[in-house]
Amino acid sequence: MSNPQRSAKQTATQADMASHIARIDALCQAARILPVIKIEREADILPLADALAAGGLRTLEITLRSDLGLKAIAQLRKQRPELCVGAGTVLDEHMLAESVAAGAEFIVTPGCTQALLEAGLSSPVPLLPGVSSASEIMLGYSLGYRRFKLFPAELAGGVAALKAFRGPFGNVRFCPTGGLNPNNVQQYIQQPNVMCVGGSWMLNDAWIRNGDWQRITQVSSEALQLLA
Ligand code: 3PG
Repeated sequence: MSNPQRSAKQTATQADMASHIARIDALCQAARILPVIKIEREADILPLADALAAGGLRTLEITLRSDLGLKAIAQLRKQRPELCVGAGTVLDEHMLAESVAAGAEFIVTPGCTQALLEAGLSSPVPLLPGVSSASEIMLGYSLGYRRFKLFPAELAGGVAALKAFRGPFGNVRFCPTGGLNPNNVQQYIQQPNVMCVGGSWMLNDAWIRNGDWQRITQVSSEALQLLA
């Protein structure tokens, strides 16, 4: 016998997931490269974001690896509304809720748990869960996810893994991150199941520490040119 309550909930979830996928696709298409950012000093927040934006990187993944992550998200949403700012290194539902409250426009996680994937279904902003195996893709897939971060991409099989995943997961697309650099990024973006790439190679620690913003702008812009 059919259960109208359950089917209404399922339909709502399907509609939400379709909208999440559309939003992920739009932001990845616009971004091409998602810089993975760790903020160590409050004073770096604006100049670092400005340096990336000047190089053409306007969609930013601010990780919660430092205590300043949430603050940086909130500050950038307020003071740089032209940028698209998401939260990265979100490890549980609690961090997801905090990220949304800080104003994150999307959420990225390095891996996936059932609880986090379920929380992502009812999140007002889309979740891009991290996977590194067929089983993790299937866990996300069973809940409706079709877009994933492949992490750590190079260690998880890199371009060869992406090619292999195209067989069983024809309608799944990835943002490979972890170990990407100017020497291998072209190979990644050429894969039909890659929607954008992520990484931190344009954010060398010493450049940030020394306020070498021009260098960050230059490397960001060169990275985008590699994908042109
Ligand atoms: C991540 O969390 O996505 C990675 O730390 C980024 O990987 P990379 O530093 O090797 O680019």
